[in-house]
Amino acid sequence: MPQSPTLPENVPENVPESVATDVETYLQAQQDKSFLRFITCGSVDDGKSTLIGRLLYDCKLLFEDQLASLSRDSARFGTTGADNFDFALLVDGLTAEREQGITIDVAYRFFSTGRRKFIVADTPGHEQYTRNMVTGASTAELAVLLVDARKGLLTQTFRHSYIVSLLGIRHVVLAVNKMDLVDWDRAAFEEISADYRDFASKLGIDQVTCIPVAATTGDNVSRRSDTMPWYSGSTLLEHLETVQVAQDEADGPFRLPVQWVNRPSLEFRGFSGTIARGAVRPGDAVAILPSAQTTTVSRIVTIDGDLEVASTGQAVTLVLADEIDISRGDVIASTEDRPEAADQFAAHVVWMSEQAMLPGRSYILQIGTSSVNAQVTNIKHKVNVNTLEHAAATHLELNDITFCNLSLDHPVPFDAYSDNREMGGFILVDRLSNATVGCGMIDFALRRASNIHWQSMKVDKMARAGTASQKPCVLWFTGLSGAGKSTIADMVEQRLHAMGKQTMSLDGDNVRHGLNRDLGFTDEDRVENIRRVGEVSKLMVEAGLITLVSFISPFRSERRLARGLMDDDEFIEVFVDAPLEICEDRDPKGLYKKARAGELPNFTGIDSAYEPPEAPELHLNAGAGAPEALAEQVVVLLRARGVI
Ligand code: ADX
Repeated sequence: MPQSPTLPENVPENVPESVATDVETYLQAQQDKSFLRFITCGSVDDGKSTLIGRLLYDCKLLFEDQLASLSRDSARFGTTGADNFDFALLVDGLTAEREQGITIDVAYRFFSTGRRKFIVADTPGHEQYTRNMVTGASTAELAVLLVDARKGLLTQTFRHSYIVSLLGIRHVVLAVNKMDLVDWDRAAFEEISADYRDFASKLGIDQVTCIPVAATTGDNVSRRSDTMPWYSGSTLLEHLETVQVAQDEADGPFRLPVQWVNRPSLEFRGFSGTIARGAVRPGDAVAILPSAQTTTVSRIVTIDGDLEVASTGQAVTLVLADEIDISRGDVIASTEDRPEAADQFAAHVVWMSEQAMLPGRSYILQIGTSSVNAQVTNIKHKVNVNTLEHAAATHLELNDITFCNLSLDHPVPFDAYSDNREMGGFILVDRLSNATVGCGMIDFALRRASNIHWQSMKVDKMARAGTASQKPCVLWFTGLSGAGKSTIADMVEQRLHAMGKQTMSLDGDNVRHGLNRDLGFTDEDRVENIRRVGEVSKLMVEAGLITLVSFISPFRSERRLARGLMDDDEFIEVFVDAPLEICEDRDPKGLYKKARAGELPNFTGIDSAYEPPEAPELHLNAGAGAPEALAEQVVVLLRARGVI
């Protein structure tokens, strides 16, 4: 068993002595320091974790217990020999990761020096962790990209730079590490730096600083290197402490996404939120988006009293001069330079879920403080993050980066992401699981749809249904192929017809001969199939009809979408539930046989999923019982619900 390394004599102290004597001054000084959020990109091989560990150690930011455990771990897992600290171990949090020798999560670390406070996001470098890097980069103002001086720029350097530029980070530090292993060679450093500047300028990253370092020895990390006298620039720490990144944030036009309407009494009505950009003063003219109404600010209220001015990052409550209807999700903005409001966008989207993104599927889009339903309507291209080439895509998989069109069901105020990250960045949330499944950056609004308005008609669906004395609705039959959907729907329709009711039937096989002739049976196509049928059945309901829809409609998400298109009570989901074995046994069209023989790919129940309804209005046991009796159950339900 290797010996544990001994602790150095100058065990770092995290807190200066003055704290004991003057706590207030110390705390005030801490508060006044500026903040820098940065991300480190690179892999274990480049020495990334070692570099961060070194920074923390040199800044005397390690507590004794951390040092003791570092000393134990260095002996156990370290790659630097038993007598040296392996700084990477400090940063690679989990034991499982340590044993694999890679970092897998986003780890945020907070540290501060005499001049500045820092939050560093440490993310793994491998391509399969693109989503982690995107998460870490989304709040960073600066990126430290590591390269190994022996290897120069690698594919992953290009990938990381692309993500950095996509996420709007304008400041990049290229830390050319392991200079000790190239004999501190100036030419090697300069060649790598020149190549990188050239590449970065193509991506629009204009602030590049290249620093030659050796993380294991600490050269040019926080201590100026004696071995590289030819380098006259800042050390990494000096650069991080002094680089100016924040001032552009505070300038810029005023934006306050309203988080809540603060109305403690009839006398007071204020609008609370955190200022996303710019500054505001009492008397300023402001516009409310998306309604575009205007007014002036009369007070800026905070828990510490009224303010004369407030700016980026401050949480405030604004009192306005006029009574205007404002709700959560609206944005209060400067009148001179207003955000746009739109419901159709072109945006870059990064997919973060194991479950594929299918165009047409509905997700919750959260931007600023608003939350709306959204669909990707068109994937324009997918970006190969290693070569930056574009490729066509029908759906998105984990870690895919794409450029697509999105359609929202309400307009939202926004700025392009490149102008304002808070106002142009969004996340996509799965409607069922509530998990974040993607994130995106708005490039521009698509004007097309904003010129289309809803036209309201005097004759409505109840009027159209009038003479037939019926309540228009959708009977949505879902279930496996061969379960009996079409047969039962047909019987129900015959009986309604005999009663003088007005009906329409939409059947999967039939609609696929016409409107949906262009669709097959991939997941993407099924989503689009059901989206269209949902819209068509809505039109049928508008026409005043009892509409019978018989589609496998295998996915909960799209059935839910169809339900959402109708008014309450108009959507009646009928689960035609027959076990797969029975459907397969019936095999009315011989399709199961073909599917089993491998001649029909993506067949529902065989190699394509069916998600049964969780709470259908009617659950028919279609494996047993005559279709007539099942149809009768549907008619009984229609009577009970007052449809007929
Ligand atoms: S859905 O899944 O998109 O809702 P839909 O109800 O329109 O399917 O069409 C299903 C009908 O298409 C089935 O009843 C069957 O006759 C036929 N079909 C052909 N290929 C497939 C397949 N791969 N999976 C399911 N049904 C198929």
